[in-house]
Amino acid sequence: MKRHTIALGGAGLMLGVSLLAIPAQELTAELPEPPEFSAQSEPIFVSVSDILEYKALPEYHEPDWVTSKYVEAGTLPPVAERLPKEPMVYKTANMPDGIGVYGDTMRHVIGGRPEGWNYIGGQSQGWGGIDIGMSECLTRTGPLFTVKADELEPLPNLAKSWEWSEDGHVLTMKLIEGAKWSDGDPFDADDVMFYWNDNIMDTNVSPLNGGTPETFGVGTTLEALDPYTIKWTFKEVRPTQYLYAMAYGTFCPGPSHILKPQHPKYNADNTYEEYKNAFPPEYMNIPVMGAWVPVEYRPDDIIVLRRNAYYWKVDEAGNQLPYLNEMHYRLSTWADRDVQAVAGSGDFSNLEQAESFIEALKRSAEESAPARLQFGARTIGYTIRMNFSANGWGEPDERAQAVRELNRNLDFRKAITIGLDRQRLGDSLVRGPFTAIYPGGLYAGTTYYDKASTVYYQYNVDAANGLLDGIGLVDTDGNGVRNFPAGTAGGGDVEITLLANTDYGTDTNLAEGVIQQMEPLGIRVIANFQQGTARDDMAQAGQFDWSVERQGSEVVSVVQGTSALAPTGPRTHPFHRAGTDGTLDLLPFEQELVDTVNAFIATSDNAERVELMKKYQRTFTENVYSVGLTQYPGALIINKRFANIPAGAPIFMFNWAEDNIIRERVFVPADAQGDFELHPETLPGAPGSAGPM
Ligand code: GLA
Repeated sequence: MKRHTIALGGAGLMLGVSLLAIPAQELTAELPEPPEFSAQSEPIFVSVSDILEYKALPEYHEPDWVTSKYVEAGTLPPVAERLPKEPMVYKTANMPDGIGVYGDTMRHVIGGRPEGWNYIGGQSQGWGGIDIGMSECLTRTGPLFTVKADELEPLPNLAKSWEWSEDGHVLTMKLIEGAKWSDGDPFDADDVMFYWNDNIMDTNVSPLNGGTPETFGVGTTLEALDPYTIKWTFKEVRPTQYLYAMAYGTFCPGPSHILKPQHPKYNADNTYEEYKNAFPPEYMNIPVMGAWVPVEYRPDDIIVLRRNAYYWKVDEAGNQLPYLNEMHYRLSTWADRDVQAVAGSGDFSNLEQAESFIEALKRSAEESAPARLQFGARTIGYTIRMNFSANGWGEPDERAQAVRELNRNLDFRKAITIGLDRQRLGDSLVRGPFTAIYPGGLYAGTTYYDKASTVYYQYNVDAANGLLDGIGLVDTDGNGVRNFPAGTAGGGDVEITLLANTDYGTDTNLAEGVIQQMEPLGIRVIANFQQGTARDDMAQAGQFDWSVERQGSEVVSVVQGTSALAPTGPRTHPFHRAGTDGTLDLLPFEQELVDTVNAFIATSDNAERVELMKKYQRTFTENVYSVGLTQYPGALIINKRFANIPAGAPIFMFNWAEDNIIRERVFVPADAQGDFELHPETLPGAPGSAGPM
């Protein structure tokens, strides 16, 4: 016991002194330029009005079998009656291959599994774009990678137009009029208000993609003026920024006529958990506004979706979209998605796990390759997120609480960051010009990134050990692992759990790398590897010390997901949420980040925004808010038979490629169509369809 005390005081004190002698700037270095790697194709930049408009057309068309089997049989109204007064019309000139033809299937493969269909109630459908194909949102951002930078504004979608009041506090939106859910029920402001009042404002509900009241600004209100007009009132003046939050995934209303009767506010028998789980994966034909409706589900096998007969978008010839009749989601693994897309037994993949790059590139380069593979910019990146809540989020035990205190200590975070050899971490995934050192914060190469504002703490194990000694973490029992100071967590070993997602090889490979690289620092990191849904639930609930994660679109586009750049609300941030008393225990630099992000949201002056993001980047990286690991490009793999795939479509920017490529406009030329439809000539819910009504 005596030895213990002396060792702790002595070593801590001694090294603490020597540490003070290391000037801060010596820990930093010039960030090496990322290896040259150019995107393989560039988008054609256009105006939003070049892409689409809303108008009535003289005539409408649908697949012949829909007319003959359903309309003529009297089980479905004629297409003109199913469409809104003024449908959304995609302009031919903006379609890479022009007006399409009906038929065929896009065969997706995913690693996720569906929890159920209550998307706004917080259930995942298994990712990979199922929810993107089923949900439609007030605005749309995926395709913005092709919109001219100086005209950047979300595309209209369920909100067909909007107008700002003169004082800039009120935004009045016109909803598409006469559009219907896939079961024929009218879509209107009731759906929007149910989403807002009972899913966003009701904090017992956590919508899947994290929409919270603060996502739309503190004090913002929303009301319906009539069935097709909604009115937003903001505290800020003309916060155009929120138009991005009205896109996927934070403002995509669900079918209120189906969901409302299950919500505890309207159903005294139901708990919030029962509401969330009221539509299990076996439940078919959940009404959607998207182009495809689930009609078949086989656990660990497949989800099949069929065309929505009420879809409200058309081409300029009046053909009701989508062109593709069916969507498959094979329930496999994410790595299998790459393999199958390259081999041609699947149709689509976001090649995002760097370990597969070389194989996929080799095969795709062959003339006989069934799929095109195109690399984009470096928009995939990973960090270690440390849990910053010291006031109870996730209910930490004594050890975990001690880790939270460390996480909040800048010297500790600096030690961890300089203890990591990022070059080696990147190379361990794939060799070549792909990966780049990622210090954290905004991604290099994106619009708001500024290298001069990026503080890079370079790899230096000795200095890392010095910093850890300096904060009193000493290996008092000689087992190679530093101990907490006596009196903290019983003076036990510094053990930190690292949450990672086993659905992705990259996540666990990087996590393994981190675990190894922490050893020479005397920090024992213990893998807490969980399957996707369980991982997401633990992360949401704050049950983690550290987590290795792929980053969201906020660090790519900045304008999408902006409120998640800092803890702007009690539940907006991935690694710092309110504790048991409902408050956020923000550190001073976090408050600065929050203020900077709020100022960014409140201004649309671009010069000011650029400066604010420089400040954000500096504060973030100087304080090592999260520990950046590696950053690399992704590639879109898509079977060569598909037409209307826009040039330069990134796998991830404002949204994932499943949104970016505008799947409802994608088609397969007649002579290239495959025989993949599992439920040909059926409609969801109609007699003769695969699913129950
Ligand atoms: C998962 C996949 C991504 C993308 C998204 C779409 O996260 O890893 O590539 O398909 O789903 O939501």
